[in-house]
Order: sequence, then C-alpha cells, then structure tokens
Amino acid sequence: MERINQVNPQHADPDALFADHLDAQLSRYFDAMERCHHDALVIAAGEPALHFLDDMPVSFKPNPHFRVLTPLHPAEGSSIVLRPGQRPVLLHLRPRDFWHLSPEPATGTWTEGFEIQEYASPEALQQGRDTLIKGANAAAFIDPDAAPAPARLLAHLDHSRAQKTGYEIACLALANHRAAKGHRAARDAFRAGEAEFGIHMAYLSASSQEDAELPYGNIIALNEHAAVLHYQHRQRQLPPGGSRSFLIDAGATERGYAADVTRTYSATAGAFADLITALDTAQRDLIESIRPGMDFVNLHRAAHLAVGRILGDAGIARGDPEALLSSGVTGAFLPHGLGHLIGVQTHDVGGRLADAEGGLRPPPESFPALRLTRTLIEDVVVTIEPGLYFIPMLLEALRHSGESARIDWSAVDALIPFGGIRIEDNVQVTAAGCVNLTRPALAAEGLA
Ligand code: GLY
Ligand code: MN
Ligand code: MN
Repeated sequence: MERINQVNPQHADPDALFADHLDAQLSRYFDAMERCHHDALVIAAGEPALHFLDDMPVSFKPNPHFRVLTPLHPAEGSSIVLRPGQRPVLLHLRPRDFWHLSPEPATGTWTEGFEIQEYASPEALQQGRDTLIKGANAAAFIDPDAAPAPARLLAHLDHSRAQKTGYEIACLALANHRAAKGHRAARDAFRAGEAEFGIHMAYLSASSQEDAELPYGNIIALNEHAAVLHYQHRQRQLPPGGSRSFLIDAGATERGYAADVTRTYSATAGAFADLITALDTAQRDLIESIRPGMDFVNLHRAAHLAVGRILGDAGIARGDPEALLSSGVTGAFLPHGLGHLIGVQTHDVGGRLADAEGGLRPPPESFPALRLTRTLIEDVVVTIEPGLYFIPMLLEALRHSGESARIDWSAVDALIPFGGIRIEDNVQVTAAGCVNLTRPALAAEGLA
C-alpha cells in the first residue's frame, strides 16, 4: 500500500488533515464498491439500543464506518450516502423534539467535504436516502438496523482500515494525551490511598470524560484484581490491609478515535516492583524491534520469550526461554495476545485478515487469544501490551501439570497477592520502525 502519512503526530492538528483523510477514505470506499460491483453505499450511524423491556437507551457508539468518514457528533440517526463520481452526502438528523436537545448544525472545516442535507425526522431522512439511491442497480447498506452488510465489501474495508491516515494518527495521539491526564490523576489517587472507585472518578475528572465517552470500561484493579484480565468492577472500599499494587487499563477518545493505555504500579519496593521494571524494559525492547514487514505473530512469540527470560531471572521458573515457551509455562503467565489494531474501535477490525478478499489467518494453536496475525506495514497502529500475571486458575493447572517442577512455588505464592502486570502503549509503524504515541503523552504528565 502507498505511504499516506507524513505527519509528526505529536504536533498535528486533525482539522488541517481531515480533507486528505476524507480523500484517502473515499478512494478506499469507492475502490471497494467497484470491486464488489456496488453503485451506491448507504452508511447509517445507527440508533441507540434500549435496555430490555425498558424505554431507557444504552450508551451509543456510531457505526465505525460512519465514524471513519465523519467526526459528526452527536450522530444518532444520521447517514452517509456514497455514489461513485459524486460528492458524499451527509444526511444529518436534527429532530424537532422538545424532549431532547436537538443537535446543532454541523460546523467545522470537515463539513466542506460533504453535501449536507438536514432532516427533522427519521422518516424524512429515510425518504432522502431512498431518493439518493434511486436508480442504483446494486446498492449496499452498512446499517446497524438493516440486513448484514455484504461480507466481501466489509473485508475490503476492514483490511484497508488497518493503515491509518495522518488525521487518524493525530486523533490517536490526542486521545493518548487525554488518557495521560487521567493516568496521572489515577496514579496520584492510588498513592493517596484511594479505593478503586475513587481512582476511577479521579481518572474521569482529569481526562474530562464521562463513563459513556470512554472507549472501553476502565480497568482499575488493586491487588489480586490485577490478575483478572478484564476486571470490570470498582470496589468502593480499600481492600483489607490496603493497596499493594495497582493496574490501570484506561483510555480516551478524540473525534471517536481510541487510546488504550495500561500501566502497573507497586506500593512498595521488592520482587513485584522489580518485575514491573523488567516488563517495562521488555515492552520498550519489543517496540524498538518493530519494522515494517514484520509478522506480528513473531513479535508475540518474542514477547513470550521475554516473559520466559524475566521469569528465569527472577527465579520464578527454571529453563531457557524457548523451553518455557514450548512447555506452556509462559502461556500460564501471559494468556492474552501481545496487541491488536486500534482506531475508531479499541479492538479495530481486520486483525486476522490474510487479504482484502476476506481470507483469514487464524492465530497459531499455541496462541489462541492473539487478535492480530497480520504483517505490519507503514501507518498501521497497534497496541503493544505484554503482561505477566499471577492468575490462580492458570497457576493451579500449571501446579498440577508435568511442568510443575520448573516453578518455584514459594516465589509464585508470594506474588499472587499483587495480581499482575501489564504495560500497554499505542504504536504507529513507520518506514524507519515505529513511533510511540503513548510514551510522549505520559511523559508530558510526568509519567513513564
Ligand atoms: N483495554 C482492552 C485491551 O487492552 O485490549
Ligand atoms: Mn489493548
Ligand atoms: Mn488496554
């Protein structure tokens, strides 16, 4: 694929980059339509779903295809219609409604790329859509409220989505800056002795986000909770005995683009703090090794070898890293994938696509959780998030396996109360290697 991004993301203004972004996206969409023989494409933002047997809506995220093409917010009920050779039409729903605040007219330089039509009701907007696609022989719909979109069209779009434009990378960098403000406040709240709930509230306030604006539910985990990979609760009381460790996996959004950032802290010096330092070094080394053309599966493998080395150096496991990997020992301590694509979705689609036609490259049997099996190319943005956890369920299986003798169980038992470690950055692949979008943002807040 052609190089499409020349911009230093730390200093980029998304507004100045949107026109190029829209051009690049429209070429992708029109190209996919042509290959799949569609002469019209309707992309609906969608409507908020209601709770079961209730009239209250759940929080709303627009169709990611809508979000890629426009930062319009709020977007509920709006649509985009693409016809080859014509300007894209944004059908903006601005209902006349005294129950809710009606959206303001769309403003900003990004609107220049669209013909904008305003509608005062969903019915009128539907008629507007019908008029725009009248005469099309093979219209396609990517609409959460319609039949599933054509799989081949989606494969083409999902495959190209991995490579980000300068606008997208600028948004991802800004999202990281917002997340970094939250991470700093959360670290300070942990040090001040706050419980999970208080840390979460400090994060939201400092990053200026409501819960519904987060790209994913914050993981705010003290002590053993850090061993629950997607820990979803926030205890209002401190654990008995206080906090020993703190894992925070928390992000932010900018114009719909996500940051996905994890850090781990220890309350005291000692073996767990040393493991954090070792994993942090390993994570930086993995990032430094990134080059375009690299197979992400091999990078994931390198992460396992690094975890094997750390376990050996710490006296937790015996054996060389290769043996610890092939025997499944590293898998007990690192049961998730090294990373994933990131963009308008935290786990951006297409991570296992082998090609634009929808062929799949499943992960190797030994790494079933790996979400990304593609070869890295310039301007793909991924997370790099090695972990090292003390998960009782997995450790019990290891303890009763033929590999048990490799483990110093007294060392493991002493570390179980700390839960685990994950260090996660968002990284743009470049011609020379990669650019870390997270570390400069954290450094600006005095964090590592
Ligand atoms: N926060 C979810 C993940 O790291 O993938
Ligand atoms: Mn992640
Ligand atoms: Mn994460």
